[in-house]
Amino acid sequence: MKIRKVLVTGGAGYIGTHCCVELLQSGYDVVCADNFSNSSAIAIERVEQITGMKVTYRETDLCDKAEVRALFDEYVFDGAIHFAGHKAVGESIEQPLRYYGNNLLSLITLCEVLAENRCKNVVFSSSAAVYSSINKPPYDEEDSIDPCNPYGRTKVMIETILHDLHASDPDWNISILRYFNPVGAHPSGLIGEDPSGTPNNLMPYIAQVAIGRLAELKVFGDDYDTPDGSCVRDFIHVVDLAKGHLAALRKLEDRPGCMTHNIGTGHGISVLELIEAFKRGSGVSVPYSIAPRRAGDMPVNFAATDKALKELGWKAELGLDEMVRDTWNWQTKNPTGYQD
Ligand code: UD1
Repeated sequence: MKIRKVLVTGGAGYIGTHCCVELLQSGYDVVCADNFSNSSAIAIERVEQITGMKVTYRETDLCDKAEVRALFDEYVFDGAIHFAGHKAVGESIEQPLRYYGNNLLSLITLCEVLAENRCKNVVFSSSAAVYSSINKPPYDEEDSIDPCNPYGRTKVMIETILHDLHASDPDWNISILRYFNPVGAHPSGLIGEDPSGTPNNLMPYIAQVAIGRLAELKVFGDDYDTPDGSCVRDFIHVVDLAKGHLAALRKLEDRPGCMTHNIGTGHGISVLELIEAFKRGSGVSVPYSIAPRRAGDMPVNFAATDKALKELGWKAELGLDEMVRDTWNWQTKNPTGYQD
């Protein structure tokens, strides 16, 4: 069965908007559902600007079954990409019930309504946060799972639910994508990452220091057992990541069952290397100081990418220079994000 009309939950968010652009430019019909709790409707207008197409969106609480049913009363979908969810690690430690409640209930509600409508094709945003630190990088999809915070545990629980769902009814076709560290922005500079409050993640923090919104970056630890002492991560350009979803959607048409793939580049970049690359690419200095290690950080984390290449025919194409260029382009064009 050909997948044409796709429900994109969390479609106004950082990854959701980039995915909508790629879907629309590849000829898919897209309907976004977002409650705008951590995103802006302006981001949807920007997707329209990039694609020259009207984007249909509905303000929807995905935990509310009546609201989700209303979407399916209005449209006939062939599949869904489920991005919506809470994603801040620190917040998940402080407010575990909010994280388990929202992330699990929205997934369950969505799947219930998908089943009612006999639409059983889903792509789910999981995370490299599911892996245990006992694994040796590169992490492959068979490595052991043991997330170190509630956010990561919501991802593991949802993966388990999806496996059980497929086991109960093999008509389901499910793609679980484990993202490594998404960075960068659309090359137009019209959409990008716009964290609310002080960023938790490295790249938006660097960009806000470079633009002068924040005074100084703190590098969490320079005494790890890595070449330069700082942690190593697999940064992946958000446009590559978005394209990974198209590859996964296409694969669902072959009725593969329930499958899991890493979405990373396979290359480790250290925190200090990223700072240097940012300076080089932007021409702006990024003042930093060394701070103590951050609890829960793994020293080295990067993806094994062979399975995604073999089974989805997808691999990352963009490198560190493009990640820096596009982050800086977005940040300079939108110094305060989507706010005026
Ligand atoms: C984090 C989450 C992960 C989530 C991912 C989403 C944790 C422990 N993990 O991954 O669950 O899926 O974001 O993108 O939070 N760093 C600094 N200074 C900063 C910020 C970060 O030195 O101000 C360092 C961190 O210590 C880490 C690296 O930069 O070594 C990357 O950090 P971050 O961008 O937060 O991503 P992860 O921790 O890899």
